Amino acid sequence: MIITIDGPAGAGKSTVARALARRLGFRFLDTGAMYRAVALAGLRHGVVWDRPEQLAELAGKVSLEVVAERIFLDGEDVSEAIRSTEVTAVTRHAADHPQIREHLVALQRAAAGSDDVVTEGRDQGTVVFPQAPCKIFLTAGAEERARRRVRDLQSQGESATLEDVLAAQQRRDRQDTDRPVGRLVPAADAVEVCTDGMSLEEVVDRLESLVRAGSGGETA
Ligand code: DC
Repeated sequence: MIITIDGPAGAGKSTVARALARRLGFRFLDTGAMYRAVALAGLRHGVVWDRPEQLAELAGKVSLEVVAERIFLDGEDVSEAIRSTEVTAVTRHAADHPQIREHLVALQRAAAGSDDVVTEGRDQGTVVFPQAPCKIFLTAGAEERARRRVRDLQSQGESATLEDVLAAQQRRDRQDTDRPVGRLVPAADAVEVCTDGMSLEEVVDRLESLVRAGSGGETA
């Protein structure tokens, strides 16, 4: 069974999806990590960002593997390297490219296989797994999302002001919703959950009850 969690940057999707997967005994798939890894490959190979075909060609050549919540680029574990501000800033070049999206959508479906998976991203319920029986659209207010991002960056040793993070977040929200392919939009059958003022535990409880209600207790 596939559970999809889509939503804007900073809504807490990764943390929530990982916790939900643990609770249900499902695997967790972080699809943003794949777009980030392609962007990291672009940085390392010195692609020219306004020549999108260069990144698309590279994306087809590199090896991307997801193993137990870690992501490997050409055999190297890049799970931490893909989280830098530098990678975040250029990831849109991977996410905006229709050919790269097609390639990563295929990899995401292959990575899920026929397992029980909680998958998170922007297009999981709309494009990648439209038949998923349980779809969540996770949101939070702009300020709350930005505050969480500042905390994350600080815990990684990067300094950031709330003002700068809010501005960058607004840009990313626009990029996510304006993208011609794989744009961020709730699936018609997704349940929207706003996490403002909720603890992680409360969000996971809410999602677990949605899953159990939607799947007729299949996962109980
Ligand atoms: O969730 P994240 O911040 O790790 O995602 C990184 C980037 O990849 C972000 O710009 C949105 C994009 N993305 C996407 O277009 N489709 C997905 N399924 C997941 C992420």
